[in-house]
Amino acid sequence: MNYNKKTVKDVDVKGKKVLLRCDFNVPQDKATGAITDDKRIRSSLPTIQYLLDQGAAVIACSHLGKPEPNFEKWVKKQTEKGKDPAELTEAKWKKSVEKLTLAPVAVRLSELLGREVLMAKDVVGPDATAKAAALQPGQVLLLENTRFEKGETKNDPALAKAMADMAELYVSDAFGSVHRAHASTAGVAAYLPAVSGFLIAKELEIMGGALADPKRPLVAILGGSKVSSKIGVINHLLDIADTIIIGGGMAYTFAKAQGGSVGKSLLESDWLDYCNEMIAKAKEKGTQLLLPEDTLAAKSFSADAEPVLCDTMAIPEDMLGMDIGPKTVTAYAAAVKDAGTVIWNGPMGVFEFPAFAEGTRSIAKALADTDAITIIGGGDSAAAVAQMGFADKMTHISTGGGASLEFLEGKELPGVACLLDA
Ligand code: 3PG
Repeated sequence: MNYNKKTVKDVDVKGKKVLLRCDFNVPQDKATGAITDDKRIRSSLPTIQYLLDQGAAVIACSHLGKPEPNFEKWVKKQTEKGKDPAELTEAKWKKSVEKLTLAPVAVRLSELLGREVLMAKDVVGPDATAKAAALQPGQVLLLENTRFEKGETKNDPALAKAMADMAELYVSDAFGSVHRAHASTAGVAAYLPAVSGFLIAKELEIMGGALADPKRPLVAILGGSKVSSKIGVINHLLDIADTIIIGGGMAYTFAKAQGGSVGKSLLESDWLDYCNEMIAKAKEKGTQLLLPEDTLAAKSFSADAEPVLCDTMAIPEDMLGMDIGPKTVTAYAAAVKDAGTVIWNGPMGVFEFPAFAEGTRSIAKALADTDAITIIGGGDSAAAVAQMGFADKMTHISTGGGASLEFLEGKELPGVACLLDA
């Protein structure tokens, strides 16, 4: 996949109306709707500010959550979740959709930009089109949640064209959504010249660079609970990394595949053969594959469970693995120390529980201390690094969760592929 794409700097934006796809899919307080983390809004500021400074008018758009814009489908989904169909009224459906308005994002964006942000009541309806038509250079308009439109997730060309018709240039800066082939993330590029904003440009430069031409040795640390969610990543990274380090819950499926006893640990029996195939592939390719030698286990999955150190291949029957042990930490930290590039995706243990956070914390510290290029591939590992106070020590923390995983799998990302090649 070509990561070398045109950016806002490669086109003339002066006096133009720019449709800017952001990822404003921010976490909100369930009760009040208040934004609990505005990082995604902040990370869109450099591109918005640049466009405004260059004399463009910005029509920003984004999705928020997963509203169901079709009443019948909403009823079906709720019924499948066990809700009583008699209680599934049209009013309730409307409320479930409307609560995902981007209005709170417009307020926060306006505070951060220090200028007015106009809010449209719809995406391509009369309010949006009128406000977009009247928009002047230096002004910002935020369209309503793109997923309020039925055509968004279907990548409906009519919706993509209606969005494109409001603008003269499409800029995508929604890295967290580039793995989605939706009308606003990819479809619209069929009707407008399409370039990236600074956020996507940085993600492509650093992550793309690490995959295409890494400073070696390239060490990939893969954790998290399930082998099944990392299949593509392990397989792809085995082709390019020098060392792959496995931690987290998925290590126990590897241990079992190798003939170990893993007690009550998380186990994906369907993936045992796959683990052995990956071990064989690593041997064949000459890639070092490190699995945890020791484990901190416990009798129950709880914060107050007592940690017991054991061999990963011999976890007692009544226990489950919760974190990597100290011997493993030493081995993994040594690999990180000698690396040229480190890519990390997925925690080493149940870091939410302090008694089982040490493995993840030690790896985060090893990354913070190394001279290597360090890349955190979004999601839980990004949260862990931030929580443990090492965020500013990393070369790059990806803003994408699902998107960065698909990036590491080497998959073509529709929201990147649709942009003009540099
Ligand atoms: C994310 O939060 O990972 C992105 O905004 C994509 O959201 P989605 O999984 O609802 O498409």
